[in-house]
Amino acid sequence: MLAAFLLPATSAEASAPLRTHAAARGKFIGAALATSPLANETSYRTIAATEFSQVTAENAMKWESTEPNQGQFTFSGADTIVNFATQNNQQVHGHTLIWHQQTPGWVQGLSASAMRTAIQNHISQVVGRYADNPAVTSWDVVNEVFDDNGGWRTSFWYNTLGQSFVADAFRAARAADPDARLCINDYNVEGINAKSTAMYNLVSSLRQQGVPVDCVGFQGHLAIQYGFPSDIQQNMQRFADLGVQVRVTELDIRMQMPRDSSKDTTQATYYRNVINACNAVTACAGVTIWGFTDKYSWVPDTFSGQGAALIYDENYQQKPAYTAVHDALAGGTSTDTTPPTAPGTPTSSNVTSNSATLTWTASTDSGGSGLAGYNVYREQGTTDTQLGQSTTNSINLTGLTPNTQYQVYVRARDGAGNLSSNSALATFTTQSGPSGGGCTATGTVQTQWNNGYVVQPVTVTNTGSSAITGWTVTFTLPAGHTLAGSWNASVTVSGQTVTAKNAAYNGNLAANASTSFGFQVTRPSGNTQTPSGYTCA
Ligand code: XIL
Repeated sequence: MLAAFLLPATSAEASAPLRTHAAARGKFIGAALATSPLANETSYRTIAATEFSQVTAENAMKWESTEPNQGQFTFSGADTIVNFATQNNQQVHGHTLIWHQQTPGWVQGLSASAMRTAIQNHISQVVGRYADNPAVTSWDVVNEVFDDNGGWRTSFWYNTLGQSFVADAFRAARAADPDARLCINDYNVEGINAKSTAMYNLVSSLRQQGVPVDCVGFQGHLAIQYGFPSDIQQNMQRFADLGVQVRVTELDIRMQMPRDSSKDTTQATYYRNVINACNAVTACAGVTIWGFTDKYSWVPDTFSGQGAALIYDENYQQKPAYTAVHDALAGGTSTDTTPPTAPGTPTSSNVTSNSATLTWTASTDSGGSGLAGYNVYREQGTTDTQLGQSTTNSINLTGLTPNTQYQVYVRARDGAGNLSSNSALATFTTQSGPSGGGCTATGTVQTQWNNGYVVQPVTVTNTGSSAITGWTVTFTLPAGHTLAGSWNASVTVSGQTVTAKNAAYNGNLAANASTSFGFQVTRPSGNTQTPSGYTCA
């Protein structure tokens, strides 16, 4: 009997399939399906039918499958997916109409006017076929139109038609099915970076011109060795604020093989973070995983030495990633009302005139939704102000006022938003600031991949005692690295030295105030260096 008091309450509902929990939040949880295992394997069919409320054809709706020769349409694979979804009360996301891959050679060699006609005909036939089918609710109209630097991908579409093919394709899709939700889709756009900013600007401009872009898809092909795009929620929200629906369309989280339990744990955290981000953004319709079993995944064929990217192993056993997705969908105020334990008393270190580091003993969370992070507050009599947030048991506070006493405390937060009670107070006093002007700059690598990385934010702080009206930050790129893009600063490069001057809107900084900018760099494959020597004047 004692155990009944110690264990969290369980119920039939708590162990329900993913789709039940997603539906309770008004979201879908989806999977990409391949036609061959769907035809041949009972386990594959059973899991696909019971766990997911949305499906995407992994390949069966691509141009090479639906119109392999001009004017000759074949819908057998596409229909198989749509019929399966209909039987199982699932939505279908059509993927994809215009892409530079898996499009037959006959399309690629067309003249501009013939290519325009082919786009119109293809979209009207493919979208038109399912326009009256209630299962098919959305389409990826264009896929991967940007390169990683945020420039236009020089695909055969772009080289033949310029940017115009994007608006043409969306208009053709709207004409073929006025009720379908029409998406633009890409990879490496999960966080805020040069590529996602290019996408943001395009979506904004298309909508201003009346082009029917209803939705933005973030593919979500992530890798545990390249770090989590921690501003994914913020990024989805900025798109949502343009008035579009957002969704994660092709989530998988790969690792360097061999798989081990520590990599599984990291992977589970990444899956949970993605679901939590979608949960937190009202305009996020749901998350689609790119497959579900490691038995059938494009990852080992595409990324050498990597794999195990999905939520079931190759024997259809649930991995920690499954539990993470399940619990993130199931968690929330209705199921987890138990706050984390209070954090330990913070200790301060590295106290300067405008910054300090706080470290504390971590909290634990037993309510089911998991520890999500910490909020750090300054006690100020009547109203306490939040100084910052952290996902670890440490934070670097910046923008503090010189020669000032701070009394601070920390509260832990879980995945359902429950806040712990306050930690005990820590007290520290910042050093007196320099009397004249001065500024500092510190860069943080936000995300990196094999041959590139994003530094964001570069935080620029006015450490002087009076306001400044402009700033210039310099830093050095390692040999062989080239700047691929930047935002919120005006940037010039000479050799490996980069000079970033404030933009028109972020040069004015009061004493102790901070602003930030960001940039993206391409580097030789396998090189792991990042820039150093940030100076501010
Ligand atoms: C992949 C499929 O998973 C593979 O089976 C196929 O060989 C190649 O395409 N971005 C997309 C998807 O939009 O269509 C791709 O799917 C993965 C990357």
